[in-house]
Amino acid sequence: MSRLVVVSNRVALPGENRAGGLAVALHAALSERGGLWFGWSGRTVRDASGELREHRDGDIRYVTVDLDRADVDGYYNGFSNRTLWPLLHFRLDLVDYDRATREGYRRVNALFADKLAPMLREDDTVWVHDYHLIPLASMLRARGIGCRIGFFLHVPVPSADLLMAMPDHQRLMSTLYAYDLLGFQTRRDRDRFQSYVRLYGGGRAVGEDLLEAPDGRRFRIGAFPISIDTRHIAHQAAAATAKPAVRELRASLRQRLLAIGVDRLDYSKGLPERFHGFERYLRRHPDQRGTMTYLQIAPITRGEVGEYQQLRSQLEQIAGHINGGHAEPEWTPLRYVNRNFPHATLTGFYRSARVGLVTPLRDGMNLVAKEYVAAQDPQDPGVLVLSLLAGAAQEMTTALLVNPHDLDGVADAIAGAAAMPLGQRRERWQAMMEHLLRHDVHAWRHDYLHALESC
Ligand code: F6P
Repeated sequence: MSRLVVVSNRVALPGENRAGGLAVALHAALSERGGLWFGWSGRTVRDASGELREHRDGDIRYVTVDLDRADVDGYYNGFSNRTLWPLLHFRLDLVDYDRATREGYRRVNALFADKLAPMLREDDTVWVHDYHLIPLASMLRARGIGCRIGFFLHVPVPSADLLMAMPDHQRLMSTLYAYDLLGFQTRRDRDRFQSYVRLYGGGRAVGEDLLEAPDGRRFRIGAFPISIDTRHIAHQAAAATAKPAVRELRASLRQRLLAIGVDRLDYSKGLPERFHGFERYLRRHPDQRGTMTYLQIAPITRGEVGEYQQLRSQLEQIAGHINGGHAEPEWTPLRYVNRNFPHATLTGFYRSARVGLVTPLRDGMNLVAKEYVAAQDPQDPGVLVLSLLAGAAQEMTTALLVNPHDLDGVADAIAGAAAMPLGQRRERWQAMMEHLLRHDVHAWRHDYLHALESC
């Protein structure tokens, strides 16, 4: 087995809270075969010397590099999160395109290529992750790297007509042709990418899952839906019910049902719509009045980006409005919390919740949906209310699927979940759990790496 080299924007160093699905999955892949994980340290420094920091954990080497303020603003806050993120989540209205941030993005990708190239061996397998690093393979190839390089996009691919609205789209998108395998979350993402290549990217399909770039270079594409460590989460959730934080949450409910949402504070997650949907539930279903508490955990991310700051104030305003209009002296319908919790505690929270609310406006996959299912008590499982616009909806087909823009539909799904008889809850849950046991994160990385290594 060749050495695995993972490259991603953030690197989860040993001992850090590996709450993100990406971190869990990649750590598992690296610990199995040994290797190197390279990326940004997450630190913004005054004078970035380009010096590498190195940590070791058994057979895994972690190498990170600091960035200076101009690079973080151009590459991370700018082009990655104000241009590509909204574009890839179908939000052309929020795209801010700027040649200066595009240059920052190019500069940081070139820095990554400069630092990484000398560490690579002929027979390495390199696996690059996500929209921050689209041009990395082409830059490594320009530095003489010939080994296998794969890319996995964690976020959605929008339709070809949205992609081509980005100025200079071809210049960026054609750098993807330097990879050997492009992995997407769902079949639909894969298909939309293929349409883009055919319509605006100058390439063509030459076989099932095989595309050809204008210069004749061939590369594979495929759908590899990311998943979770299902068995681990099921055990973790069962054990977590003894944790003080979980017991205190349960006691605080005073026999009321719990609905839970856990999302980064991001506009793609549809939080304002979800809050309004919950208020609609309170109004439309007076028979259930006072029987449910909704806990929304929404840790702040990308707090330096304007759209995220605006979203935060908007949510504070809506939460205040809902509680002001509906709370009783002894009951607060919505508990809105901006802090993060240890992953194990979250699984205990999921298990305590009759309703899991996962209603993004767009999401590549959404691992909270899968974790919520895996964390349930098989004897008394809760109900997942899931957006049709999340990649997870392609697999979690026995969830209550909703359109997050349809507030009445969301409200009725919450009420339906709260009232659902045990037999039906079990049936729906079992179907999803069986799927997750077969298609867990280990199957995901094996499938991807097998496909990459057979290129
Ligand atoms: O969903 C895309 C993604 O890159 C995830 O893989 C990751 O957990 C998340 O966004 C992190 O965002 P950030 O590092 O910008 O907080």
